[in-house]
Amino acid sequence: MTSETLQKAREYEERFGVYIQPQERPAFHLSTRVGWMNDPNGFSFYRGKYHLFYQYHPYSTKWGPMHWGHAVSDDLIRWEYLPAALAPDQPYDDAGCFSGSALELPDGSQLIMYTGVRSLLNEDGTRSDLQTQCLAVGDGLDYEKYRFNPVLSEDDLPRGFSRTDFRDPKMFKNPDGTYGCVVGCRTDDDSGAILLFESSDGFSWHFSTVLDRCYNEFGKMWECPDFFELGRKRVIMCSPQDMSALGLEFHNGNGTMFLIGDYNETTRTFRRETVQAVDYGLDFYAPQSTLTPDGRRIIVGWMQNWDTCVSQPASVKWFGQMTLPRELSVRDGRIVQAPVRELDGFHSRRISYSDIPVREETTLRGVYGRTIDMTVTVKPLPGECYTQFRMKVAAGSQHYTSVTYTPQTSTLRVSRDHSGSNRDFVHVRECLVRDRGGCLKLRIILDRYSAEIFVNDGEQVLTLTFYTALSADGISFQCHGKAAHISVEKYDIIL
Ligand code: FRU
Repeated sequence: MTSETLQKAREYEERFGVYIQPQERPAFHLSTRVGWMNDPNGFSFYRGKYHLFYQYHPYSTKWGPMHWGHAVSDDLIRWEYLPAALAPDQPYDDAGCFSGSALELPDGSQLIMYTGVRSLLNEDGTRSDLQTQCLAVGDGLDYEKYRFNPVLSEDDLPRGFSRTDFRDPKMFKNPDGTYGCVVGCRTDDDSGAILLFESSDGFSWHFSTVLDRCYNEFGKMWECPDFFELGRKRVIMCSPQDMSALGLEFHNGNGTMFLIGDYNETTRTFRRETVQAVDYGLDFYAPQSTLTPDGRRIIVGWMQNWDTCVSQPASVKWFGQMTLPRELSVRDGRIVQAPVRELDGFHSRRISYSDIPVREETTLRGVYGRTIDMTVTVKPLPGECYTQFRMKVAAGSQHYTSVTYTPQTSTLRVSRDHSGSNRDFVHVRECLVRDRGGCLKLRIILDRYSAEIFVNDGEQVLTLTFYTALSADGISFQCHGKAAHISVEKYDIIL
């Protein structure tokens, strides 16, 4: 049965969503139907379609009591809104239906697990959240909350784990038909851990083990965990809060990481080998993965970061968009990412240039746009390497977003210093890329208000948003020191 709270949200989005014109939104990235969006939730393939739910506050462009928004897609590029799926309408979730996941049950229904939040009044008058894991079952459109909710609460936690920071369950199916679920939790040293729970039917859950712990090394509380196989590796993906920078790594405060290692199924032991940031840009958080029917592990992230939420001008009627879904694979022990191949199906108006010598700031006929997929290859001239390569995108008379590569230090820098913001928050990020003797390959995807930059076939990705007028659609190239040869292949994305 649809509660009054959910009905109200559904009527609100139906009534007001239409006031946001399609051209005011990203063209092929999912943005909130109305109001506010944060984390991707319940990313799954169900009854022939991809389902992507999201943390949702329909009533304003600010975070508020969390609902779950809902959209579906055949191809991960064109999204269609469905009515909101969950609302905070029960005593155990009346302060919010926080992040969670979805999977298909053997009877063909879709099971959602999410964090139900209750706000408790402490003895000293302060408030804290009680977080429990709750279920809802549905048909891809309407969901009924489980009558025995919550299914995981403080009673299921081992000693020393927090009941107020216990959230974001990500379920998965085991090959033997049983289920596992990873949940983020705060430990008594005030940092994070990933707990594994198990179930034979998806409804009755018990604690299994602590898969990995932070011990205050990588941030504090670990939010939005995920756990999957990739090639011969096992990966925990999570989003630590309060990260401290390490060299050029982990500058986001709210960061993201892959913990790459091995897993022993019998003893349920995860052995971490390496740690890698998921994204090196300014606006990326809380990614979640799913498996496509053809076996690709893909992730989608919130194309925003908590500390950069002031970035969106007040005139923008919606808040929050997702990244493009990205395919993961392992190369030389590192995880590499590529835009989902479905994007190629929307390529049109190909423009290409090969080995153009570039020194002064140069524009190329036909190379412009704000909804594009463009690959740029830079090659130094024999024996003489340039000192800096610089590219501007989304460039107009006053504004541009820049990407700068310095071969001597192998650093790539993105900047939206001149992307129209009148707020003083972080606009620049730098990351280390592999030294290839001055050769560089960038695949840049622009979708009106964002850029996703895949470096050297996805060894690093840098994601950022900016809100300049769409008429600022110029692109230019420039080299300092010496010239370099630039090749460009550009497609417009037309849905
Ligand atoms: C991550 C997060 C989650 C939580 C949700 C609340 O961005 O803080 O841990 O479930 O957002 O909206």
